[in-house]
Amino acid sequence: MTQLNATDAYIAGLPKAELHLHIEGSLEPEQMFEFAQRNKMITPFDSVEAVRAAYDFSNLQDFLDIYYAGANVLQTEQDFHDMALAYFRRAAADNVRHAEIFFDPQTHTDRGLPFSVAADGLLAGMKSAEAELGVTSKLILCFLRHLDEDAAFDTLKASEPWLDRIVGVGLDSSEVGHPPSKFERVFARAGDMGLKRVAHAGEEGPPAYVHEALDLLHIDRMDHGNRSMEDEALIERLADSQMTLTVCPLSNLKLCVVRDLKDHPVPEMLRRGLHVTLNSDDPAYFGGYVNQNYSQLAQAVGLTRDQVTQMARNSFEGSFLTEAEKAARIAEVEAYAAAT
Ligand code: HPA
Ligand code: ZN
Repeated sequence: MTQLNATDAYIAGLPKAELHLHIEGSLEPEQMFEFAQRNKMITPFDSVEAVRAAYDFSNLQDFLDIYYAGANVLQTEQDFHDMALAYFRRAAADNVRHAEIFFDPQTHTDRGLPFSVAADGLLAGMKSAEAELGVTSKLILCFLRHLDEDAAFDTLKASEPWLDRIVGVGLDSSEVGHPPSKFERVFARAGDMGLKRVAHAGEEGPPAYVHEALDLLHIDRMDHGNRSMEDEALIERLADSQMTLTVCPLSNLKLCVVRDLKDHPVPEMLRRGLHVTLNSDDPAYFGGYVNQNYSQLAQAVGLTRDQVTQMARNSFEGSFLTEAEKAARIAEVEAYAAAT
C-alpha cells in the first residue's frame, strides 16, 4: 500500500464539490469496452491498453476528436446510468459530497439517439448515486460551440420537458474560432427561462473571449478561465466580482494549456484573490479524479493547507446549491479543517 503524505491525506478526507466534470469524459476504457460489447459494436481499438495509449494529446481538438468517438458506445439509458454511477462512486471515494455535471446532448442526438436516452439515463444515475452514496448532484446541459446557434436553440427546445431537473446551460467544445458572442441570443433565452449560465472561456481562447462570456453571456460561473491572467483589468474584474473559476490542472497539463504543472496559474490566481476551485474535467482521459488534481498541483506548486481548504470552501460557495445548503456543506469543511 502506498503511504499518503500529510497533504495528500488531508486532501483525501476534505469534503469538496466538483463543478467542472463532463460526464462523457468519465467513461473509462474498461467501461467503453463493456458498453461496446453489450451494444454489439466494434471499437477502433483492440484493448484497454491501446485506448489508453491513444490518450496523448497536443491540444484541445486532439482530445475532442477521441472523446466524441468514445461517446459512440453510449446507446441506452442503462449505459448513461451506469457511466454516471461509476463516476459518482469514484467521486465519493474522493470525498466529493456534491457534483454539478455537464453533458453534451448534441453529441448523442446528432447520432440519432433521442434526448431522453441521455437525460433520463443520467438523471437515473444521479438518483442512484444519491441513494447509494449520499452524493448530491445537479445536471448542466452544454451546447457544442463548434455547431451553430440554431442547433443550440433546437437543443434548448428539446430539453424543455426536463428543465425542472436541469440547473443550467454551459458552452464547451472547440473554443478558438467560436467566441461566446456566437451564442449570445440562446444564452439570453436560457436566462429568461430561469436557467443558470456557465461557459468554458480562456482555456485556449484569448482574454477577449472571457470578457465576452461575462458581458454577453452573463455567466454565473466560468469554466477554466486560465488566460484571464494575461489581462490585468480582467484579473481585477474577476477578483472584485468573486466570479468562481472551475480550474482543471491535469486537463491543462494533458491538453498543453500549461507546459508543466509547476507553471500552473493557480498560485497566482489565489494570490490575486480569485475565487478558484479545482476539478477533473474529463478524468478518464486526463489521468486523475478530483483528489489527484489537488494532490498533483499541491506537489508541483507547493500549495498550503489553507489554500487547499479555501478551494474546497470555494467549491461549495460557487455551486448552485441553496444558501442554506452551502452553509451546511461549508460547516463540514470548517469542522474537518479544525479537527485535522
Ligand atoms: N474543453 C472544451 N470542451 C470540452 C472539454 C474541455 O476541456 N471537455 C469536454 N468538452
Ligand atoms: Zn471542460
